[in-house]
Amino acid sequence: MGTRPEIIKLAPVIRILEHDTLDYFILHTGQHYSYSMDRVFFEQLELPDAKYNLDVRSGSHAEQTGRMLIGIESILKKENPDVVLVQGDTNTTLAGALATVKLGIKVGHVEAGLRSYDRKMPEEINRTLADHCSDLLFAPTEKSRATLINEGIPESRVFVTGNTIVDAVFQNLEISKKRANVLELFDVESGGYFLATAHRQENVDNEERFKAIIKGLEKVHEEFGLPVVYPVHVRARRRIKDFKIEVNGVRLIEPLDYLSFLQLESNARLVLTDSGGVQEEACILGVPCVTLRYNTERPETLEVGSNVLAGTEPDEIVKKAREMLNKQKNWPNPFGDGKAGERVVKIVREEIG
Ligand code: UD1
Ligand code: UDP
Repeated sequence: MGTRPEIIKLAPVIRILEHDTLDYFILHTGQHYSYSMDRVFFEQLELPDAKYNLDVRSGSHAEQTGRMLIGIESILKKENPDVVLVQGDTNTTLAGALATVKLGIKVGHVEAGLRSYDRKMPEEINRTLADHCSDLLFAPTEKSRATLINEGIPESRVFVTGNTIVDAVFQNLEISKKRANVLELFDVESGGYFLATAHRQENVDNEERFKAIIKGLEKVHEEFGLPVVYPVHVRARRRIKDFKIEVNGVRLIEPLDYLSFLQLESNARLVLTDSGGVQEEACILGVPCVTLRYNTERPETLEVGSNVLAGTEPDEIVKKAREMLNKQKNWPNPFGDGKAGERVVKIVREEIG
């Protein structure tokens, strides 16, 4: 693991491994290293410390991935595990899968088979390559399973487990109700505000696009007269400064810990996001979602009606927000029953024999 979503989505697997006889350790690449993007989640989700932290930090894609490959290979040679689990679609995921398969060690990919079919996204390259390096592919849904089979991956390698984000939400929602008090902190009422997040490279590193997204959020605030709260990802924070973007009518706050974020998300009237995990969580929590992108690797959310694609043009963002505000919120959760972590561990155990 190496980034915020990987920590959150592997936490349910780690919780099970903590009480299992299988021996395991955590290798952290250090892709995310700021307290608010990394350590806070270990503390709050009560995860054991990583045995190794490569501390690769930031850099170009090749630099960052290259440093990870070198570091991971050396640790795997020393530890010689039976299986390495990677999660999602980050540079950490790709480096983990690639270094492992080249050493002849089995790779398990948690959240396999997602496709946006947009090769301009670094994540699309990472997830596709990780899938094709993997021996055990843990697909969240039947749809992601079918995608993998269509790409020629043998059926025997693919397991539909559900997405571990459901486990994470189920395990932490009640706790968040008791332990977090973000509504008071940000002076908002349940159902009386919008939650926004945007951090994708293709959105926030592109000045024109990022400005259009901010304008869209400002227009949403003006049109519906409700606060828009945006916990700003570290990449996006840097770009707001670089591009000297003036923000009016949108509340920019620091990235939140998981319990606080879950509370803010579950009480929001509507979510506007370009995050993968947030599209899923909104769907699970019954909160309508407007996705600030032109495609999604989570088409299940569009099919059940919890989510729509708005792209990044301000007027379109407002239009889609209006559409979702009028929506019945009784869609089914397509991402599983909250036992994905258990299934992953069971399958790994059977594989090791
Ligand atoms: C990465 C993943 C993305 C995932 C996101 C989750 C890749 C290619 N991208 O994007 O798929 O959705 O994590 O949040 O793997 N920075 C800090 N502190 C940190 C980490 C980053 O200040 O702890 C800043 C640095 O300026 C860095 C920038 O954020 O250059 C981007 O970080 P990076 O890990 O390269 O990509 P993310 O945008 O975080
Ligand atoms: N998240 C969080 N605090 C925040 C924003 C997001 O804890 O301020 C959580 C959110 O609940 C979700 C995950 O981070 O589980 C999503 O991560 P991110 O959007 O960074 O990455 P993506 O899912 O797009 O890869």
